[in-house]
Amino acid sequence: MKVGLGDVKNEMRAVWFTNGEVRMIDQRRLPSDVSIVSFKDHNAVAMAIKNMTVRGAPSIGAAAAYGMCLAALNGRNLKEAATVIKAARPTANDLFYAVDHMVSELKKGVAPQKAADDYAQMIVDKCISMGEHGAPLINDGDVIMTHCNAGALATVDVGTALAPIRKAHAEGKGKKIFVFVSETRPRLQGMQLTAWELLQEGIPHSVITDNASGHFMKMGVDMVIVGADRIAANGDFANKIGTYGKAVLAKELNIPFYVAAPVSTFDFETEDGDKIVIEHRPEEEVTMIGSMRIAPVGSHAVNPSFDVTPARYVTGFITEKGILRPDEISRMR
Ligand code: MRU
Repeated sequence: MKVGLGDVKNEMRAVWFTNGEVRMIDQRRLPSDVSIVSFKDHNAVAMAIKNMTVRGAPSIGAAAAYGMCLAALNGRNLKEAATVIKAARPTANDLFYAVDHMVSELKKGVAPQKAADDYAQMIVDKCISMGEHGAPLINDGDVIMTHCNAGALATVDVGTALAPIRKAHAEGKGKKIFVFVSETRPRLQGMQLTAWELLQEGIPHSVITDNASGHFMKMGVDMVIVGADRIAANGDFANKIGTYGKAVLAKELNIPFYVAAPVSTFDFETEDGDKIVIEHRPEEEVTMIGSMRIAPVGSHAVNPSFDVTPARYVTGFITEKGILRPDEISRMR
């Protein structure tokens, strides 16, 4: 099914459940093609997470919750389904949090679709709260830098890093803000997804190459806001590769550096960032663009999908419970 951008903006979410199927926007095809794919089996949902049809930590969590819902409705062994879904990607804490949440809700006898719909709505509600807490950090005229996509596509709706930006832009007469969106090689989530979302909202922005970040930060960026895939107990966090470099530059240039994330992204079982498992994706994501090879035949690439930024670079975590310093995040437990 194809829909227009207006339909997506007004009625669609990144992932939802209807008529016994999980439906999601195929994020691999944006921005040129807004297509909806649907799945009736939890194995197919796990594959959609793995191949990044759906991506972004909270959306991965919601997809996983709906995958567990399908497994329950189809009378599958829930333990086996949980194992398959959890194996889809290793870094985003939300995947594990959502599966465990569903197992616990299903054990209590909550109806599968209600449990998964409630999970997805909980994420959206937390994003709305993050927007409310984060928007006052943004001043009229601010230039903000973000990385990857931590918008509605990544979080069912609204976004984490984009929530305060949307709110600041929308509230009252709207603060005049400008957003630098780094393209986010190799999969281009910044250029293809974040820019697409900002365009729909009418938020002024420019896409920049990842290696231009330092240049623009030195020229005048007022704050950096990113999302996170997993936040360890000490505040070290994993996010899209390229985040660490921006955090170090922000410290050097005295630019506030904020991380926006809901409770599902916090992992208090993991002591620090060194223990976060970093996903390595196929080298072809780097050596090829579409079906065209851009690296010399014979040259190999390494492709870590995330890097870890130490807590000391974080000015604050924008959460549904307010803005927390790294030493205050135990409040998210
Ligand atoms: O590989 P992806 O596209 O799933 O990575 C996404 C990110 O790194 C996001 O910044 C993160 O999940 C936060 S999304 C609110």
